[in-house]
Amino acid sequence: MKKERNYLPEQYSRTAGLPINHNYLRQQFADYAKILKKIGRLAQEGDYTLGKQVDEFEANIRKLTGSRHAIGVGSGTDAIFLSLKASGIGNGDEVITTPYTFVATIGAIVATGAKPVFADIGEDYNLDPALLVPRISARTKAILPVHWSGLPCRMDAILNIARQHHLSVIEDSCHGIRAYFKGKAAGTFGLCGCFSMHPLKNLNVWGDGGYIVTDSDEIYKRLMLLRNHGLADRNECRIFGYNSRLDSIQAIVANHLLQKIDAITKARIDNARLYDEVLREIKQIIIPPRRPDAVQVYHLYIVRAERRDELQKYLLKNGIDAKVHYPVPMHLQPAAKIYGYKAGDFPVCERTCKSVISLPVHEFITEKQIKTVAKKIKEFYA
Ligand SMILES: Cc1ncc(COP(=O)(O)O)c(C=O)c1O
Repeated sequence: MKKERNYLPEQYSRTAGLPINHNYLRQQFADYAKILKKIGRLAQEGDYTLGKQVDEFEANIRKLTGSRHAIGVGSGTDAIFLSLKASGIGNGDEVITTPYTFVATIGAIVATGAKPVFADIGEDYNLDPALLVPRISARTKAILPVHWSGLPCRMDAILNIARQHHLSVIEDSCHGIRAYFKGKAAGTFGLCGCFSMHPLKNLNVWGDGGYIVTDSDEIYKRLMLLRNHGLADRNECRIFGYNSRLDSIQAIVANHLLQKIDAITKARIDNARLYDEVLREIKQIIIPPRRPDAVQVYHLYIVRAERRDELQKYLLKNGIDAKVHYPVPMHLQPAAKIYGYKAGDFPVCERTCKSVISLPVHEFITEKQIKTVAKKIKEFYA
């Protein structure tokens, strides 16, 4: 049998040498010796799974978000899946979400047995609340907004619809740490807010990790069981659950980086503002509307571009790691065939996927590099 390919090592190395890069992890963890020292201590103590560092991490997240509860889990995907499960969503239910997201949002819905029902996005790349109501059926149980690229959805409108139709709201806030909508933290509007700490997120660990925030005592209790086999203690299994524990090692890394999260967020916002300023004069580039009701934290800096694919090739050739998040909408993925969607169903999303380009916006990009990116884009269109 032919061995299946792990495509990730090749994907990592393909753009690793580009001088203006999306990846900044070497700089991010230049002080790794401090983290290793703490991991060394963990090796002496040995509480690797859900150790006291996880408790400390959860306390830090409660403080950061103002949520009553925070629960560390294995990944952002698990955060969404477990939140849906804890809300009672399963076989035969429908969950309304965006077709413009990473596959994990949809995979998490499908893993519960529920059906993902898509609604189109607006020009800000997020779910358009005005398009939600026609997608509600007798089977709809939840709305799952995604705060794409770190821009919070219009949560007031979404919560109103959810209230009127008795639906739960589970937020995919995997891009949304420190983002705000009308002064309230992204991830704290719905029943649960789900966050990822995957290596290229704004708060990242050395592998996979995620967390959930909730104000509901009942959901919290269920999540604490679900993430650890449903065990109330060593010998009592209250509900059959899963293994989705945040590793103590990852909690150590996260606690270390949390001390810098405000500086990270500020640098990304400043970088995005500079990009906006220098790209605004290029007529082939469309910057999405910048919403005054939100603090956007720019996990990604995404604009629309004419002749996107050619521009991406040109930038890559010139040492700039331009990426596309993502070229194929969720409803047109091969995995979604069973749901019967077709091209043309969500025109704004489809137009967006054909034209978006992401430029490196992380905290280590310099002003000079941003200006170089703009110069190269101008050169391409000249
Ligand atoms: C929008 C979105 N949702 C969910 C996830 C899943 O997070 P994780 O990779 O931690 O499982 C990701 C990221 O990778 C994401 O970008």
